[in-house]
Amino acid sequence: MAKDPVRVLVTGAAGQIGYALVPMIARGVMLGPDQPVLLHMLDIPPAAEALNGVKMELVDAAFPLLKGVVATTDAVEACTGVNVAVMVGGFPRKEGMERKDVMSKNVSIYKSQASALEAHAAPNCKVLVVANPANTNALILKEFAPSIPAKNITCLTRLDHNRALGQISERLNIQVSDVKNVIIWGNHSSTQYPDVSHATIKTPSGQKPVRELVSDDDWLKGEFIKTVQQRGAAIIKARKLSSALSAASAACDHIRDWVLGTPEGTWVSMGVYSDGSYNVPAGLIYSFPVTCRAGEWTIVQGLSVDEFSRKKMDATAEELTEEKALAYSCLS
Ligand SMILES: NC(=O)c1ccc[n+]([C@@H]2O[C@H](COP(=O)([O-])OP(=O)(O)OC[C@H]3O[C@@H](n4cnc5c(N)ncnc54)[C@H](O)[C@@H]3O)[C@@H](O)[C@H]2O)c1
Repeated sequence: MAKDPVRVLVTGAAGQIGYALVPMIARGVMLGPDQPVLLHMLDIPPAAEALNGVKMELVDAAFPLLKGVVATTDAVEACTGVNVAVMVGGFPRKEGMERKDVMSKNVSIYKSQASALEAHAAPNCKVLVVANPANTNALILKEFAPSIPAKNITCLTRLDHNRALGQISERLNIQVSDVKNVIIWGNHSSTQYPDVSHATIKTPSGQKPVRELVSDDDWLKGEFIKTVQQRGAAIIKARKLSSALSAASAACDHIRDWVLGTPEGTWVSMGVYSDGSYNVPAGLIYSFPVTCRAGEWTIVQGLSVDEFSRKKMDATAEELTEEKALAYSCLS
């Protein structure tokens, strides 16, 4: 029997990531090849015409799984009945703008969209914040949508996770699908800590630690970390535009694994509400290694943390604590 359609909201849908993301959702990349979807697309009035163009292209693509499209500039209409919300819309940092000014714009966007989601989304709606500053936007959304369980509000660090897998596979000239269990700790920013301490590689003689096969700790602790941290800037330099297809693909990976589960023995990185695990301050949205079952994520517990990792995990937590304070100062 055909499944009932799932309503998926994409905010900022007329933007670059939106343009790459909506066809992936309509093709079943996010929720599976047998899951019909109803797409809700939100953008702001100056982008209304472009948004309508995206809607026209979705119609023209004749996606069999796509059962309807709502394209609107009204947040209430966009949020009504949605089961999954992917928040890509936000205010970008423009030349000469202070960090606080950008934060202030995004705090007010996420505050009002939190209220629209809280009042109109389907119960148990799963939220993924992509727009930067992603962790702190997600935290503001959580604060202003108190009836949505904190467990349902996450931010995207899967792109960083996938970048780390990609760098290891390039270095060893192996398939990316043979690398697993890297971790992105902390903020989706240049203080994030890409950690391979527990990562492994599938070899003909079983799983082997990444550290052993790379056999170059200087590279792993230096250039590897820096490359992953700075990859967004490198893409902008090369494309003159920020990453879009990889961000859209990572957003699909994030929701797919959250809803359908992570493979046995594999974890992924998600920005989630900290419960104090690994001595990360509670009350931040911080990226942890998680496994997912039956639509729920769980932080992987009991991983050893050496001194090098501890320092890096603390530094990115400190940045998030500062961002949180800055965001709160914008509220008052
Ligand atoms: N977390 C990650 O891994 C990651 C990766 C790449 C990009 N990003 C972030 O994703 C965001 C989107 O990137 P992009 O390249 O698509 O940008 P973009 O500028 O091309 O698109 C953003 C869209 O959001 C819309 N928008 C602005 N305010 C809005 C609001 N209040 N409600 C709804 N829509 C609104 C804009 O009109 C625009 O169409 C940026 O904040 C970017 O920094 C995050």
